[in-house]
Amino acid sequence: MALTPTRDDKFSFGLWTVGYNGSDPFGGPTRAALDVVHVVEKLAELGAYGLTFHDDDLFAFGSTDAERQTQIDRLKGALSDTGLIVPMVTTNLFSAPVFKDGGFTSNDRAVRRFALRKVLRNLDLAAELGAKTFVMWGGREGAEYDTSKDIQQALHRYREAVNLLSDYVLSKGYDIRFAIEPKPNEPRGDILLPTVGHALAFIDTLEHPELAGVNPEVGHETMAGLNFTAGIQQAMYHGKLFHIDLNGQRSIKYDQDLVFGHGDLHVAFSLVDLLEHGGLAGGPAYDGPRHFDYKPSRTEDETGVWDSAAANMRMYLLLKERAQSFRADPEVQELLRSAKVLELATPTLSEGESFDDLLADRASYEDFDTDAYFNGHGFGFVRLQQLAIDHLLGAR
Ligand code: GCO
Ligand code: MN
Ligand code: MN
Repeated sequence: MALTPTRDDKFSFGLWTVGYNGSDPFGGPTRAALDVVHVVEKLAELGAYGLTFHDDDLFAFGSTDAERQTQIDRLKGALSDTGLIVPMVTTNLFSAPVFKDGGFTSNDRAVRRFALRKVLRNLDLAAELGAKTFVMWGGREGAEYDTSKDIQQALHRYREAVNLLSDYVLSKGYDIRFAIEPKPNEPRGDILLPTVGHALAFIDTLEHPELAGVNPEVGHETMAGLNFTAGIQQAMYHGKLFHIDLNGQRSIKYDQDLVFGHGDLHVAFSLVDLLEHGGLAGGPAYDGPRHFDYKPSRTEDETGVWDSAAANMRMYLLLKERAQSFRADPEVQELLRSAKVLELATPTLSEGESFDDLLADRASYEDFDTDAYFNGHGFGFVRLQQLAIDHLLGAR
């Protein structure tokens, strides 16, 4: 079993994840801040291939140009010493008090203009570091009260922002695409573009929809009560899975940011199976970064931070091995066939068949024996699911 992560696994971590100091709304930090050079070295040693960051993770909000440059240079040095890359960069439009009512969609126009400038500057940095994906998580883009925000106008302003940033990327010739990260709530009572589906619909309204996709997070769709794997399948159907945030979440509650697989294990299994192998009856696999956006638990010291970073990668590799065994099992393949999971890839109409042909086909309607259905024709989904669980638990 290959449980030692390598660069080929494309595991990446946010600087803010392992760097999380453990503070929450109820209490202060449990850990000291980690230096970026140390983080890069540790991640490289553990087998990750990439580091991602918000501008403010690397240099504090309000840093002077010189302070900012020092940190960029230190990061670049650590990258060249270790061979780690920066596959994704993102902008913090949520921590500074000025963003409490949002960045791109603050009611205050001056704040919106400031937010755009902050992102433009960070896009230059992303390009300089070779990042191919620019994530946009709009945690403050939203409201608590229906009276405080005109949501339609907010969406117009969001669109205006993404259009402008797309123009910038195109005119600079940057090889960067945007990935919108949906989340239903927290920190805002309700966040704009709350689910993968909302984000996909919004992307269709952009001037350059080809430049925008999604960065779904396990915990976020779960907070909305949705099945994450199903949402990823829809993102893939639209060709919009540009990036992914892996973590663990147990049901509808606050954003838990547990280690990947430490939440809903069934969903983690079907997700890894999907990412690694593509759809059960066809469709492409995912070849982008496996990005962990989790938080080391507040109960842990720095040893626990690195243990949890390693646990994310180990969980992924364990599930990958289990998914391979699931797919390779002849009994599974037979059940996929008999349960007609594979038949779903066959178009409902024959090639060239028109609605007139269908109307003329008596076997499809007049002579179709609906009563025979479920009488000796059960699908057998439960047997198939139990086989999957047998593989997941190592019983096969
Ligand atoms: C959250 C989000 C963030 C984003 C990050 C990248 O719930 O806090 O998941 O961690 O992923 O800001 O843009
Ligand atoms: Mn999150
Ligand atoms: Mn995230």
